[in-house]
Amino acid sequence: MSAPPPHRLILGIETSCDETAAAVVEDGRYLRSNVIASQFHLHAQYGGVVPEVAARHHLEVILAVVDAALAEAGAGWRDLGGVAVTAGPGLAGALLVGVNTAKALAYAHGLPLLGVNHLEAHLYANWLEVAGREYRVPELPALGLIVSGGHTDLILMRGHGDYRRLGRTRDDAAGEAFDKVGRLLGLGFPGGPAIERTARDAPAKRALRLPRAWLKGSDDFSFSGLKTAVLHVVRGERGAAPPVPEIAASFQQSIIDVLTRKAVDAALREGARSMLLSGGVAANAALRELLIERSPLPVHAPPPVLCTDNGAMIAACAHYRFDALVAGWDLDPQPGMKMVAEVHS
Ligand code: KG4
Ligand code: ZN
Repeated sequence: MSAPPPHRLILGIETSCDETAAAVVEDGRYLRSNVIASQFHLHAQYGGVVPEVAARHHLEVILAVVDAALAEAGAGWRDLGGVAVTAGPGLAGALLVGVNTAKALAYAHGLPLLGVNHLEAHLYANWLEVAGREYRVPELPALGLIVSGGHTDLILMRGHGDYRRLGRTRDDAAGEAFDKVGRLLGLGFPGGPAIERTARDAPAKRALRLPRAWLKGSDDFSFSGLKTAVLHVVRGERGAAPPVPEIAASFQQSIIDVLTRKAVDAALREGARSMLLSGGVAANAALRELLIERSPLPVHAPPPVLCTDNGAMIAACAHYRFDALVAGWDLDPQPGMKMVAEVHS
């Protein structure tokens, strides 16, 4: 019998924003453990992530999180085939903690170090197997809709490591819009889950008319006009402000209407065979349902805990892209790291 490939078990470490996370993934597919220490309670009082606070907290908990991930997986260092870490994009100080920790651990244990792009990893959350769900490998080419706190990207994934960016936001990211509107509505931070919860209380018939930026002829997005429109409504500039649930529901509907229509149009035009929903905003149930309803192609969407930041997606990405991602000991955090080379016309 031939020996299994050397990288069957990969430890994935993620510290690009406000979750300190580590996971052990087998064969890029089986979740042996997935430990996530969220810091949102530390940042809630400021209404957003404070980079310095995030970095300091990552430093305090990272080793305990890694230990917990190995213990839960029932794995020791000698069982691992590599240590993968988010190299970017993200907050510089936060990334530095993850990258230096991964470097030190990989070096000390004689393991390969893998530097992973956080956005690419969000797509790979769709390659993880989930208990209770039938496992389906996404068919390529796939249309990836990455919707997170910092990014809104439409990516055509033609193969592993082979991406073309079709569109992106021209101003606010979808998650950023959720967070800003959450703050405007007094719903706290992060705004996405709070808006989703609040929107469920809105009577369906009382929707407000809010703008949708279609940007016809382009796969780009724009959400800043929508945010401003909500501000005007909240200030009661069109008469008395309607109740918060109605505003939350109408705002959410406007965002998911645009995201799903543009993603489906691009997927069909480009001949994609499946859709990959990913990033923190993909945790939104209304978005998931509408995309499934509108897409004639199979829709892959990770369970909510694998949509928001986690170490498992980092390990899965490293498994599929192992040779390309092996890094030297000079790996540095890259806060502005690109997933696809910029094309300037
Ligand atoms: O991917 P992620 O965890 O971190 C980044 O890479 O940015 O995404 C975080 C974003 C936040 O803006 C948060 O408000 C949003 O994802 N989010 C949601 C939901 N859960 C998280 N947005 C809408 N509905 C949700 N249920
Ligand atoms: Zn993310």
